[in-house]
Amino acid sequence: MSRTRTRTLPLAVLHRIVEGATRAPSVHNTQPWRWRATDRTLDLLADPRRRLAATDPAGRNMVISCGAALHHAQVVATALGWPPVVTRHPDPDRPDLLARLVLAPGVPAPGGSELLDTVEQRCTDRRRFTSWPVPDERVQRLAAVAGEWGTTAVALTDTSQRFRAERLILEAADRQARRPAAVAEQRDWLDRSAVDGVPTGALTGSEVAAGAHRTRFEDVPDTDLEGQDVQLADGLVVLCGRDDDRASWLRAGEGLSAMWLAATAGGLSVVPLSQVVEDETTRASFRTQVLAGLGHPLLLTRVGWQAIGRSDLVRTPRRPLAEVLELP
Ligand SMILES: Cc1cc2nc3c(=O)[nH]c(=O)nc-3n(C[C@H](O)[C@H](O)[C@H](O)COP(=O)(O)O)c2cc1C
Repeated sequence: MSRTRTRTLPLAVLHRIVEGATRAPSVHNTQPWRWRATDRTLDLLADPRRRLAATDPAGRNMVISCGAALHHAQVVATALGWPPVVTRHPDPDRPDLLARLVLAPGVPAPGGSELLDTVEQRCTDRRRFTSWPVPDERVQRLAAVAGEWGTTAVALTDTSQRFRAERLILEAADRQARRPAAVAEQRDWLDRSAVDGVPTGALTGSEVAAGAHRTRFEDVPDTDLEGQDVQLADGLVVLCGRDDDRASWLRAGEGLSAMWLAATAGGLSVVPLSQVVEDETTRASFRTQVLAGLGHPLLLTRVGWQAIGRSDLVRTPRRPLAEVLELP
C-alpha cells in the first residue's frame, strides 16, 4: 500500500465530517449518536440514554436517526475527498455499535461543495406546503434515491392507499394525544436546551391559515405552525423493511437522508410523520391496509413545495462536537 493510502485522517477533516453528520435529522432532535475515532476509522454508536422511552421503546426512531447521521457522514467525507468504506453492525455482540467507517484519502467528489451546502440547508419545514401538486414521478424518483441505500421506499400515489394512510395518521395522533407519557415526552423535548430538542420557533410559520388540523405538536401553545395534515397535493413516501430490526432501521435512516438531501437540492420539502409507526395499533394497520403486507412500515414522510420567498425558519440546535466525538 502506498504512503498516501495509509495517511492519517487530519483532525480538521474528522471534525468537518462529524460536524456534518450532526446536521442530520433526528426524532425530536434527540441526536442519539456518539462517534468514536481512531487514526483512520470512525465508529458510529447509538446513545440509548437519548432514546424516547414512551414513544420509541424498541429504539426504531433512534436507529433511523443514527442511519441519517451515517449517510450524512458518508456524503461529507466523500465531498471532502475521504470516501469511506462502511461496515454496518461490525460486531454482533455490540448492538449499539451501528457502523464503522474506514476513511482513506481519495479525490473530492465532483459537486462536493454543493452537497456540503445542501447538508447545511436541509431542515424540517412543517409549514403548509403550497397547493402545487408534486408530480408522481418526482415522488417516485425520491423513493428510488432512498432505495439505492438498501431500504425499500414506496411512493403512495394510489388514491385509496393515500386515503387509508391519512386516516391512520390522524388516528395515531389521536391515540398518542390520549397517552400522558407520550404527551409529557414531547413536552420534555420542546425548548429543551440550547443544544438539543425542538425550539418552538422552529414550529412557527410566517404565513399561516388559522384552524388547520395538525398532527404532532398541534397542542403546542404560542406557535403558528399549521398544515401537518396531508393535503391532496402532497407526496407521501413510506420507508419500509423486510424485517422490523436494527439492520432495516439503519438502512431506512440512510435512505431517508439520501432522499431528503435530494429533495432539498431539488427545492422540495420533506416532513417525517412518525407517529403512525410509533403507535403499535396503527403500525399494524398500516402494514396490512396500506402496504398490503409488502414490508414493515418504518417511517412515513410527506413531501411538498414550500412557497418561494418565505422567511427562514429558526434552525434546530446541535450538541457541540466535544459531546458527541471521542478521540483516541
Ligand atoms: C426518525 C425521525 C422521526 C421524526 N418524526 C417527526 C414527526 O413525527 N413529526 C415532525 O414534525 N418531525 C419529525 N421528525 C423531524 C425532527 O423533529 C427533526 O429532524 C429535528 O427536530 C431536527 O430538526 P431539522 O430536521 O430541522 O434539522 C423526525 C425525524 C426523524 C429522523
